[in-house]
Amino acid sequence: MKVFTVADAAAMDTLGETLARAMEGGAVVYLRGELGAGKTTLVRGVLRGLGYVGRVRSPTYTLVEGYETPGHGFYHLDLYRIAVPEELEFLGVRELDDPAHRIFIEWPERGGEALPEADLEIRIQVREQARSVSFQALSERGRQLAAAWESHTHALRRPGIRLQVGDDSNVTL
Ligand SMILES: Nc1ncnc2c1ncn2[C@@H]1O[C@H](COP(=O)(O)OP(=O)(O)OP(=O)(O)O)[C@@H](O)[C@H]1O
Ligand SMILES: [Mg+2]
Repeated sequence: MKVFTVADAAAMDTLGETLARAMEGGAVVYLRGELGAGKTTLVRGVLRGLGYVGRVRSPTYTLVEGYETPGHGFYHLDLYRIAVPEELEFLGVRELDDPAHRIFIEWPERGGEALPEADLEIRIQVREQARSVSFQALSERGRQLAAAWESHTHALRRPGIRLQVGDDSNVTL
């Protein structure tokens, strides 16, 4: 299991940018972690890394925000406020499930059956100011993305992000 130790919001942004650089095709990414963990901050970094320069709002109330990014539809969902999974049908979530789309979903546990299956699952844990970020591939596409993400973080040199590989070897980025 790989764990990134992320010192602050700027470093979380940078971690998101490295994930953007690792993305080639479409992907479905679930983001898990408590309120204020940094899920939206990470997605903002991904969008920056894809070259999106406009404002990135949390989809707290809209539930879904769509973005124009080169070559791929990008959708950011936050299902925290969903009352019943059936609401997703009204949002047209099934229509988002195109293999070319990049779909990032906060609070996927509220989504139920209608959600597309995850390729990659990212968990963020709060450690005072710092965050621990771990991830797990759940499909072949996810394994490729996870491997590319790791190699991109190795190329990064920035204080505040520490990539721990296993228990005994730490790489400071
Ligand atoms: N190391 C860190 N990584 C990410 N965010 C951090 C960190 N330290 C402090 N923060 C702050 O924590 C907050 C994270 O908010 P964010 O909206 O990204 O969380 P979230 O997980 O999306 O929450 P929600 O479930 O409410 O949508 C921001 O205010 C950010 O500046
Ligand atoms: Mg959020």
